[in-house]
Amino acid sequence: MNILKVKTKHEMSCLAADIMAAQIIKKPDSVLGLATGETPIEMYDNVAKRNIDFSRVRTVNLDEYVGLDGANENSYRYFMDTNFFSKLNIKKENTNLPCGTATDLDAECARYNALLESIGPRDIQLLGIGLNGHVGFCEPNTEFVPNTSVVSLTESTIKANSRFYDDISLVPKQALTMGIRQIMDAKHILLIANGPAKVEIVEKAFYGKITPAVPASVLQLHPNVTVIVAEN
Ligand code: F6R
Repeated sequence: MNILKVKTKHEMSCLAADIMAAQIIKKPDSVLGLATGETPIEMYDNVAKRNIDFSRVRTVNLDEYVGLDGANENSYRYFMDTNFFSKLNIKKENTNLPCGTATDLDAECARYNALLESIGPRDIQLLGIGLNGHVGFCEPNTEFVPNTSVVSLTESTIKANSRFYDDISLVPKQALTMGIRQIMDAKHILLIANGPAKVEIVEKAFYGKITPAVPASVLQLHPNVTVIVAEN
């Protein structure tokens, strides 16, 4: 595990953008695993400004809220379209997220599992980290859940995500998320984290015990992980 410590979110975003850009330049038909949240927004913007050819790139996102469709501005489809895809020459049909409004959520998990299988290992999987150590929406648990599943979000995650809503009661309580085995299948994992609030969990996840109670700790077992942590 390569842990790079920088001072500012700006430095973290530039460094992460350099890594993602280099991946696509090296392999124009790269498969990218992508994350949402506040942490990667500047990185996405930085990558988009480089005018890299995304016409052959395919993407798979980690997660989506149950009950929100792509037109809902709190959905992760909306987030990705707005913050990244709309700024690139990527083909919409090459971008994939779980569908939060599927009527049969188990069938949607099966569809996403099959999609991940057919698309093959991602060249890079971008991750953020939750204050409780979640990656994707794989919440603290008694076991590592391997494949895509429907999860109930913890109080801590609902509280953290309420910053994007007028009222905490509006935050979805469930999500669809890629599983830990699927995250670990990526060839290279790039995790970014910034700010004083993330210091403690980064320490616990990457220098502490490997346990499903801190899902990100499993990354210690992956052979090719880059963590970029910014103080601010
Ligand atoms: C979102 C995701 C989450 C976030 C995490 C950190 O797709 O997978 O694991 O990366 O909750 O969120 P921010 O960046 O908002 O602190």
